[in-house]
Order: sequence, then structure tokens, then C-alpha cells
Amino acid sequence: MSSTSGSAPWSRREWLLGTSAALGAGVLSGCDDAMSPTDAGSDAGTDAAVVDTDAGVTGPLPPRERSYATFEHGVASGDPLADAVILWTRITTGMPDAPSPASVDVDWAVATDRELSDVVAMGTATTDASRDWTVKVDAMGLSPATTYYYGFSALGGDSPVGRTRTAPTGAVERVRFGLVSCSSLGHGFFHSYAKLAQRADLDAVIHLGDYIYEYGTGGYGDRREYLPAHEAVSLDDYRERYAQYRREPALAEAHRQHPFIAIWDDHETADNSWSGGAENHDASEGAWADRVTAATQVYREWMPIRDHDGDPRQLYRKLGYGDLCDLVVLDTRIWGREEQAGSLTDPEVDDPDRQLLGADQEAWLLEQLRGSTARWKVLAQQVMMGELSGFPNPDQWDGYPAARARLLNAIQTDAIEDVFVLTGDIHSSWAFDLPLDPADVAYDPTTGAGSLAVEVVVPAVSSPGFPPALARAAAGFIRDNRSLHWAELTRRGYVVLDLTEARAQADWFFVGEVEEEDDGAEDHGASWATASGASHLAEALSPAAPRPDAPPLA
Ligand SMILES: [Fe+2]
Repeated sequence: MSSTSGSAPWSRREWLLGTSAALGAGVLSGCDDAMSPTDAGSDAGTDAAVVDTDAGVTGPLPPRERSYATFEHGVASGDPLADAVILWTRITTGMPDAPSPASVDVDWAVATDRELSDVVAMGTATTDASRDWTVKVDAMGLSPATTYYYGFSALGGDSPVGRTRTAPTGAVERVRFGLVSCSSLGHGFFHSYAKLAQRADLDAVIHLGDYIYEYGTGGYGDRREYLPAHEAVSLDDYRERYAQYRREPALAEAHRQHPFIAIWDDHETADNSWSGGAENHDASEGAWADRVTAATQVYREWMPIRDHDGDPRQLYRKLGYGDLCDLVVLDTRIWGREEQAGSLTDPEVDDPDRQLLGADQEAWLLEQLRGSTARWKVLAQQVMMGELSGFPNPDQWDGYPAARARLLNAIQTDAIEDVFVLTGDIHSSWAFDLPLDPADVAYDPTTGAGSLAVEVVVPAVSSPGFPPALARAAAGFIRDNRSLHWAELTRRGYVVLDLTEARAQADWFFVGEVEEEDDGAEDHGASWATASGASHLAEALSPAAPRPDAPPLA
């Protein structure tokens, strides 16, 4: 990429400043005012054409001659719709020479090219200390299934250029998602995020939770130190923790290259959380409700998720990918979960009314499944749904069997096909069929007869799985659990979920040791797929081929 004139390669800020008044771009507090330059009767292209368009360049852009100091935490995007996407950044305050304004106006622009010369939407947002200087814009008026590039300008500085992609509509041939969960900074580095950032052909990254961990330094992993050093409990604590995470180069780069669709697990609040408390919360840390309120505010400030007028804790939502996929994002943690039992033999486990999602979220989920006309109904959620003997865990769906039975019964009764469950939380890799009762002869693990859905459990980015000495325990689990096809218990990595009309395939990839800096190592762990109408996993011989026509990385 090269500049064709003596002006800075980065011309967007000047362009914005020179035209925003003429376009009538106003200032909105904490919101957006998306508008199309063409709507205002201006020729968007004339002032901006000072750089090459670089068509055909596929590598990352070289470093720019400008400072990222104003935007230390990078950029992010998320919750793509067919015509809109959330854009995110944060203004870094408190720098020695920086002004300390009460609020900052932040210009943003969305373009079809990496130089942001062909601007299709732009506006100005305002941020201040009340939202920790974060900026969240719902950029609207975009075209479906389109890769866009975006950036922000404020206080004389420009942000890194981000890349995002809108959802497709109508008949959709193929969708590819990256799947991740569980990044414990205390345990090391985030190689999986670095790998996903390099995959130019993903539609989005689905983050299944444990994006941060709440522990203090040494509380869970002693490879790296946390900020703050103590456990995150207060509003300021969570803000400092997210800020630390967003300075991680691999995570920042994954956010810069792909829209994220994120849902929390327990550690965004505290270990083994439920609606009324958490194993890692006690009265000395204040009221649980206050901690959830603080954690929720910070999650909404820092994550590129779409806000709404309702209860800010409500994160469950649906995102559509045309006729190919309805992505149903669920919260099994804070919204409606009853407290975990101490043991799977405790009487409350078998309460027929026992709730994991809560009655309202469960009813909403069943509505989404029954009403969906998409081929794949993908459920992005946290805890293992497959029934697992030999590993009693009251925190998983095994601790809420009535809730699982209600869901699977509805799938069976209403003949809902092609439900594909995504799971994080357990720092290991598993591939399940989901029959009503894995032990019943009505389920045949070879043909898949009797299976109602499938489940893919994704490995951790960096959190530890089973101890290495137990790596071979996977064979025992597979032997003792008829609906479990495959498991890998120790390695870190990620999954690519590749959807077509004919099949849904999950490809597991494993990375090198996270205690060390990334050496670039990656290997293919396994691939499991289900054919349309089968609701049953079968091993695939090789990963799905990358898309040949991936738009250039930012
Ligand atoms: Fe985790």
C-alpha cells in the first residue's frame, strides 16, 4: 500500500473534518447518527481519492505513520445485521500531553476499501467518563453480505482501520464462523485469537464466554499478572480488567479483523455464577446484584454488542444469516439459572420445573426454533448439553435435566431439524449427538437414529483443560458415553464452523503452548459434520476448504 501524493496515507480525518459540517453530521451522546454522504447530496469520492485502492493485496497493511495513542484499545465490531453493524472503540485518556475534556466527539466512517476512501456511512458520536470513554455506534444503511472497513478519529488522532462484515439475506450458499471461549490471561497468551485474525474468510467470530476472568494475580494461573492485581468486583475493577485484555495484541487483532458475536459465561461476573449468586462471590464482596450490575455495565461498555431499551442484563438474542442459519445466542448464567446443586444426586436436580435459562428465555428459545425457516438453527451457549457419565458436573445441563428434556422434547415433538449446539466453558473439545436418552436403544450411535440435535464443544483459548496426565481419559469417556463421538481434553485452540445447505461441519484447530509466546504452530485436531436432516455427527476426513475469494484483511 502506498500513497500517491505527499499527503499522509491516512486522509480520512481531514476528509471527515472538511465535509462533516456540510453534511450536517451532528453529535449524539453515546449513540450514532449514521448517514449516507450521498443522502446529503455530496460527492463522497472527490476529496478522498488520494491513495491507491490496493485491489488484490491480501496481507495486513504495513504500520502507518501515525500514532494509535488516542486509541490504545483498538477497534472492534459486532452483532452484524444485513444492513447494520456495531462499531466500537475507546478514547485513551490520561496521557501526559492529552487534554482532559469533559467529553470527546469521535468521528467514524465506514468504507468499502481499506484506505477508507469510498465512504458509505459516517457520523459523530460523543463519549465521556460515564461510559469509560468507550464509543459504540450502530452503523446503519449498509448492504448485506458485504465486507467493510471502518475507523474513528478524535483529538487529532486516527484509530487503526477495522474490518467487518454484514450478514447475508435470502438464499445463502455458505457461512463460516470462528468459535472461541475461555481466555485466562493468568495462564498465558492468546494464540487462538491470533490465528482467527489471520483467517480472512470468516463471516464472524462467535465468542462463547469467559472472555475475561475475574481472579486476581495468581488466583487462577500464575504465568501473567492481572490488572487490577486483586479480584475484579467493582465497576472500576471490571473496567481495568477489560482494558488490560483489549491491550493484548492477539485479541485486539481478532477484533480488528472480524465482527464478534459475544455472549458471557460465568467469569465475566464470577466463577460458577447463577442468577442469584456465584461460587466465587461472598458477602464480604458486597451484594451480588451490585456486582452483576457493575459487570453488566462494563460488558456493555466494552463489548461490541447491540444495546436495547430493556434490562441491560438481557443478552439473549437472535442473528439471522439468510435462509442458511439462524444464530440463537443464549445466556445460561445470569438471566434465569437456578443455583447449582452440590451433587447430581441432590433432590433439586430432578425438579421437573428446574430452570437453566429461566422460563421466559426458554419460551423465547422454543419460539425461535419453531418459527425458524433457516436450514441451521445454531444455539450459541455456555455449558455442556450432552449427558456425560463419568464426569458429574452440576454446573452443566446434567445439573438441569428437566430443562434439557423440555428442549429436546420440543425438538422431537415439533420435528425441528438441524439444531446445532455450540458450547464453551469446559476448556476441552467434545463432539456429541443429542438424543433424549443416550442409554436408550432408541438411539443408535452408528446410524444416528434417535439423535435430535448435535453439539460441538470448543476448546479454550488459554484456560487449562484436563491435566496432561489425563489426556487418555478421553478414550474412556468415549467408550462409556454412547452419544459422545470424540473428545480431546488438554489442548488449546478454536473451531471453525462451516455451514452449507448440505451439511454443517466443525473443524477443530489446536495451537502451541500458551505459556510461551506464539510460535505460529497450529494443527488440525479433528472434523465432525452433520448432514442436513441427520441430526447426527459423523467424522469428516479433512477441514472444509477456505473460501477462495476472501476480502483483504485490514
Ligand atoms: Fe472458562
